[in-house]
Amino acid sequence: MIIKSAKFVASSPKSEQCPQSRLPEYAFIGRSNVGKSSLINMLMQQKGLAKTSATPGKTILINHFLINEAWYLVDLPGYGYARASKKAIAQLSALVNDYITNREQLTMLFVLLDIRHKPQSIDLEFITRLGHAGIPFALVFTKADKLTKSAVEKQVANYQKTLLNDWEELPPLFLTSAESRQGRDALLDYIEEVNNYHVKI
Ligand code: GTP
Ligand code: MG
Repeated sequence: MIIKSAKFVASSPKSEQCPQSRLPEYAFIGRSNVGKSSLINMLMQQKGLAKTSATPGKTILINHFLINEAWYLVDLPGYGYARASKKAIAQLSALVNDYITNREQLTMLFVLLDIRHKPQSIDLEFITRLGHAGIPFALVFTKADKLTKSAVEKQVANYQKTLLNDWEELPPLFLTSAESRQGRDALLDYIEEVNNYHVKI
């Protein structure tokens, strides 16, 4: 897919306050600091489009970006930021749950996972909840530039093995790096494919 336009539209504190539009939405979720905002900037080739930070907990609202006037990319706050207060964690998790359960336009959720870490219970629990709720999702490994190719392969295989303990089928899986732009075409082409499928039905 060629990106002709990408613009920030709104930051919303609740799903019901999100832009009133019927366009499909593709949302990015994952632990704080996993690289959600960086990945959005890499895909759109605009450095400051989504706010990034070396300190976890930067994104605290639901951020909508309109792409090619046809679909939305949605940057969600991260889950599991241990250093935030309990109240703040509860508020963010309520906001994320509200969006993913109530937003009808949500077409696909991309769950981001840092390739350097072994499968973590917080991510596995979140994936399990998605599976049970029937929310379509794909897995996106981030920061692939931080490991060697063989270490990346080992981590992916490990993840697949863990998931296959609980699931018969694996979700779509992408390997990315905001630094090297690895995975950009694969991810954008996948979104295009899903978009086309939804237009046809
Ligand atoms: P929150 O909004 O706090 O939930 O974080 P986030 O998931 O949006 O993470 P963000 O994009 O702000 O990135 C966090 C840190 O990881 C920043 O210091 C980024 O520069 C770094 N980072 C993100 N993606 C990559 C990547 O692909 N490679 C490398 N080397 N660093 C990355
Ligand atoms: Mg962010």
